Amino acid sequence: MAAEAVIKVVALCGSLREASYNRGLLNAAMEICKDSIKGMEIEYVDLSLLPFTNEDLEVNGTYPGEVEVFRKKIEEADCFLFASPEYNYSVTAPLKNAIDWASRPPNVWADKSAAIVSAGGNFGGGRAHYHLRQIGIYIDLHFINKPELFVFAFESPPKFDSNGVLIHEETKHKLRSVLLALQAFALRLKSQV
Ligand SMILES: Cc1cc2nc3c(=O)[nH]c(=O)nc-3n(C[C@H](O)[C@H](O)[C@H](O)COP(=O)(O)O)c2cc1C
Repeated sequence: MAAEAVIKVVALCGSLREASYNRGLLNAAMEICKDSIKGMEIEYVDLSLLPFTNEDLEVNGTYPGEVEVFRKKIEEADCFLFASPEYNYSVTAPLKNAIDWASRPPNVWADKSAAIVSAGGNFGGGRAHYHLRQIGIYIDLHFINKPELFVFAFESPPKFDSNGVLIHEETKHKLRSVLLALQAFALRLKSQV
């Protein structure tokens, strides 16, 4: 019998804040995946060590050490889970910086699937979703359309504790649905190769 395909997910967070709610969503996603989703593994990849994108740092088609390590993680992943807070109606600088580095030749995002979740103010980070989807067009990332998950972090009932841990059961349930949709889409894309 053929072994079941394991989908490798790289999880990326646009916030560098210690008690980040968006990071809390990724931590919860990893826990949910480990506990109740077969055939999928999520690895969190830190973006804080990447230098600012600068073509002068590219030497004969190679990149600074941290960038090479990051690009390899992206290249080896089947798909991505972005937790993208909204800064001034868009994606955050650390996330855009990471996206830009991995888009340099060869673009290691290409032909892979992705999902976005976010936590934030009155639109729950929603405007960052749509900017991220637009960026995905140029780098050939394929986002699942639904379900969408916008977490209203500052509205009652509380969604996170003071350490940024997701404590809201309904949000956990929705997060699981996002993961299942991402897994199904990633499997479909992989089977086309
Ligand atoms: C520079 C900056 C810009 C922000 N702009 C927005 C915004 O446009 N819309 C919004 O809903 N929240 C905005 N916020 C608030 C963030 O959504 C909020 O701080 C959120 O908790 C950040 O995510 P984190 O908890 O993962 O760090 C902004 C915060 C910062 C620091």
